[in-house]
Amino acid sequence: MSLYTQSMTCGMGLVLHLSLSLSRLHFCFSHLNAITPIMVASATSKLLVSDIASSVDHVPSNYVRPFSDRPNLSEVETSGAVSIPLIDLQELHGPNRADIINQLAHACSTYGFFQIKNHGVPEKTIERIMTVAREFFRQPESERVKHYSEDPKKTTRLSTSFNVGLEKVSNWRDFLRLHCFPVEDFINEWPSSPVSFREATAEYATSVRTLVLILLEAISESLGLVKDRISNTLGKHGQHMALNYYPPCPQPDLTYGLPGHKDPNLITVLLQDEVSGLQVFKDGKWVAVHPVPNTFIVNIGDQMQVISNDKYKSVLHRAVVNSDKERISIPTFYCPSSDAVISPPQELINEEEDSPAVYRSFTYAEYFDKFWGRALATESCLDLFKVTSTS
Ligand code: OGA
Ligand code: NI
Repeated sequence: MSLYTQSMTCGMGLVLHLSLSLSRLHFCFSHLNAITPIMVASATSKLLVSDIASSVDHVPSNYVRPFSDRPNLSEVETSGAVSIPLIDLQELHGPNRADIINQLAHACSTYGFFQIKNHGVPEKTIERIMTVAREFFRQPESERVKHYSEDPKKTTRLSTSFNVGLEKVSNWRDFLRLHCFPVEDFINEWPSSPVSFREATAEYATSVRTLVLILLEAISESLGLVKDRISNTLGKHGQHMALNYYPPCPQPDLTYGLPGHKDPNLITVLLQDEVSGLQVFKDGKWVAVHPVPNTFIVNIGDQMQVISNDKYKSVLHRAVVNSDKERISIPTFYCPSSDAVISPPQELINEEEDSPAVYRSFTYAEYFDKFWGRALATESCLDLFKVTSTS
């Protein structure tokens, strides 16, 4: 664990930035005893990257990636106006439904990513969640850190990077993660400041869930399954959200907002503000997906890859940071409930022909524990659940 960092900026006195995890407090302060009293007096302990970002002109060493693992921003494909398919969901409800279902099948199998417009989530609802997210992260540190936790099992928590307990290099991101279905089970543990936080978040979560259920029916159909087939494999269903906050970063070439990863859940619906940062791995290259107003980005998660028996792909993606603008993104992670048993459906399996089951059955709890039990890695957890896997 390399969370103990010191970065010193010169002036009349030394300013000492300590970024440390709660579990390291004892270590850090016992270490400080050896430092001169004047430095101790100006030392501040910072849990969140948003509270160091504006006072450093270099990325502290615990955020610096080794050479072989840097974003290489000059090699990213950024020019394409439309880097992933854009699908108009309005047409799902009309005579062109079959065409839209085909577009979805193509997007899910070839890209693992698509953008949607006319998705039915009201513009006001989107504006309100973006506003409360921005307000939340602008609150004083003392208000924000009340929600801080490094325990991935907590159903509402503010944290930083990805999994601070396990990772060697930190990421330039803070995030508030919330469970949000059923809303009434969790709303009382969500932040109550800013004052409209709970109402705006509940409204957004409910509206996005309606959208996800429509998408799940269409995706079921696109796989040749009955409409409610995917929904019926998810047990009681689960829905989590993250409010991601990426502060401006003095050296965006050295670090990530989030390094390359695949989402472990079923399907992700991402709302992003007007600042670019998301990149998707396609044909051996990283491709920037620029924000388009009033659209969401949807990506296939690992559970959908299993349920489609590998027809649809959970694809590597990452978030990079930039030196002059903060960025907010709000992914909704739709997932099975913990006790749901996931496996490729019988309808998609034919052991005699060329479509044997690629994955064994497992509970979502088992998968989730594997995912969070390690640092964020480009190697997918999926391989561990293959029929042929020996682990
Ligand atoms: C995520 C994610 C991308 C982004 O939170 O899993 O991929 O643009 N976020 O913030
Ligand atoms: Ni992701």
